[in-house]
Amino acid sequence: MSDKNIAKTPSAWNTVKTDRFLVGAPHYPEHVDESYWERDAERMAKAGFNVVRMAEFAWHILEPRLGTFDFDLFDRAIAMLGRYGIDTIMCTPTATPPRWLTVAHPEILRVDGKGRPMSHGSRQHCDTASPVFREHSRRITRAMAEHYRDNPHVVGWQTDNELNTSMPESYSKATLSEFQIFLAEKYGTTGKLNAAWGGDFWATAYDSFDQVVLPIEFGPTFPSPGHVQDYHRFLAFATARFQHDQVEILRATNPSWFVFHNLGGLRDIDFRGQFTKDLDFVGYDIYPMLYDEFQRIGNHAKVQALHLDICRGFSGNYIVPEQQSGFGSQPGFCTLTPEPGELRRMAMSSVAHGADGLMFFRWRPAHFGAEIYWMGIIDHDDVGRHRYDEAKQFATEMTALKDKILGTYVRMDVGIAGSDFDNQEAHKTYSIGLPSPQDDAVLLHQYCYDRGIACGFIHPEDDLSKLKLFYVPHWVMWQDEWTEKLQAFAEQGGTVVIGARTGTRDEHNHVIRQTAPGTSLSKLAGVRVEDFGRLAAPGANGLFEVMERSGGLVVPPNRPAESQRRTRRFKIGNQELTAGHFYENLSVDADTEIVAAWSNRYADGLPMATSRKVGKGHVVYLGTYLTPELTAALAERLFPTAGVQPLVDDLPAGVEVTMRMNDERKLLFIQNYTDQPAGLAAVPPGKNLLDDGKPVAGGLDLDGYGCAIIELEG
Ligand code: GAL
Repeated sequence: MSDKNIAKTPSAWNTVKTDRFLVGAPHYPEHVDESYWERDAERMAKAGFNVVRMAEFAWHILEPRLGTFDFDLFDRAIAMLGRYGIDTIMCTPTATPPRWLTVAHPEILRVDGKGRPMSHGSRQHCDTASPVFREHSRRITRAMAEHYRDNPHVVGWQTDNELNTSMPESYSKATLSEFQIFLAEKYGTTGKLNAAWGGDFWATAYDSFDQVVLPIEFGPTFPSPGHVQDYHRFLAFATARFQHDQVEILRATNPSWFVFHNLGGLRDIDFRGQFTKDLDFVGYDIYPMLYDEFQRIGNHAKVQALHLDICRGFSGNYIVPEQQSGFGSQPGFCTLTPEPGELRRMAMSSVAHGADGLMFFRWRPAHFGAEIYWMGIIDHDDVGRHRYDEAKQFATEMTALKDKILGTYVRMDVGIAGSDFDNQEAHKTYSIGLPSPQDDAVLLHQYCYDRGIACGFIHPEDDLSKLKLFYVPHWVMWQDEWTEKLQAFAEQGGTVVIGARTGTRDEHNHVIRQTAPGTSLSKLAGVRVEDFGRLAAPGANGLFEVMERSGGLVVPPNRPAESQRRTRRFKIGNQELTAGHFYENLSVDADTEIVAAWSNRYADGLPMATSRKVGKGHVVYLGTYLTPELTAALAERLFPTAGVQPLVDDLPAGVEVTMRMNDERKLLFIQNYTDQPAGLAAVPPGKNLLDDGKPVAGGLDLDGYGCAIIELEG
């Protein structure tokens, strides 16, 4: 892949450069009789929409037979909307290749880990690594790009649709041979490949690249972590390459178009790599009520904030190409239903966390297909009810405030190391039932969210200078350049907190040969890990419960609970707490202070957490994983010296607050995510942009689901 289209460096501080706050809806004119089209356009215009997104699942209409193109339906739909001042974002329709293509080329179908090819009949069934599929993807992209090159209403493009959300893996012949080529290019010789994957372990060495196998689910036991890591690196590479094919064509055809992708499931996509560098900005689809229950966070507003703060770590502000509007379902699952007021509140929260554009999924619901109960802005009976009114209110507000909002980034005082594809995957290759780095960090994120502390995710390669505290959850794959970044941050007064197991593996997933956490981190933190062990999760029925969940050992129902008895306790300040998941026994350098020590069993008195003064700041090392109690104890101890304070004091439960800012202004976004009124006692002076600029100082009352944007004085 060439670098010529790389637009910018991914950074959490980037803002989206568009001429307006994009607001509208994904729209499917092909799902409704043409007699509705004008009324739809008129109502969108009245709602203040300025854009729709179209055609991501319409390849069969655009190219009904190989090489025969028919753009008529979309030409007419685009023109009708254009007459009402609504522009169109087109999509490459490669998530749903037509049946004639899968009949002619069944070899492009994805194959699962048990060797079964996917069937035609839903979506994302084709293999983005397949050269044949790539050829057809380029063909349809070129035809669409050329057709729409001079259409004044087509302002930008979305590539494909939520790549990898349904199924990133493929074990097809095409994947296998492309994987072998990828490895040959990466390693050059099988000697290097065998060294990287540990070929002398269980006779997994290869004599030539065409002998290499895929790490299928169907082996008798586990494949090498190096092998699995490279497979996922390959999937991310192949996904980025598939998108790059399309981006190259779109940019060459009309350089004024913006190009983005709507991220969904976030699997096998290297967020800070080529995939994102190819785009003008990131798109992130958010369905808050889809995730709240199974993520066990307990509240969809918190899940929404978490997902958006993670997404912002990839490349800063983003647009939301799909935001949940109402009840949603596919045949096998469903979401909660937003209550009156919640659609606007959820949209406002998206902006508060970095959205510079937003589309409500979807304009009207389908009457057929696998999403008949995925509700839109207009109902099945063609009536716009409270969702229409709220979308209209939101669109009107965003259009009026665009000059204030666009160009501001989201403030972060507490940064959590995020957006690192290698570390995300390295954890999965050998999880031993431990929380992922992200799952560990959720506790810190939630702590900050509940107290109105500005928090988000950011990669250590990014600009850390605006942060006050930076937490590295157990990132096993560490690079020495990142230690230099942490050191520079601490020297300038920042507080760095490094979690257990950080830096313990190299880029091939080999355990390092130095004492953990490795030479550079050991020196920076002033600690060495002398021993480690696994602990049960807080509240878990022993260690085996989590091992079973992670697909590890199968134990008899009458499991011995020895691991429950072998808990580890520690003292921090005047509290004694129980540790969870993992422990490390540390030895410390003379200039390193002990912040917490183990307090039971043989480890009584050994250091558990340490702090070393580095320049004007501190480097803290934590020989365990976070628990809610430890997170609170650490925050109470570290936040005051780090200068971390809430954006508003005494934030009531059920209210969230973030700040968007730049050199010219500071905007405090406040959302009440409960249905009950809420009162804030201590809002800094400013004017409420959602209430005709009314002055606010001290108290602020919000209705249930009420929102405020306070432009602060000075
Ligand atoms: C998204 C997807 C949409 C639609 C929506 C509701 O993930 O991009 O096409 O399926 O979910 O299920």
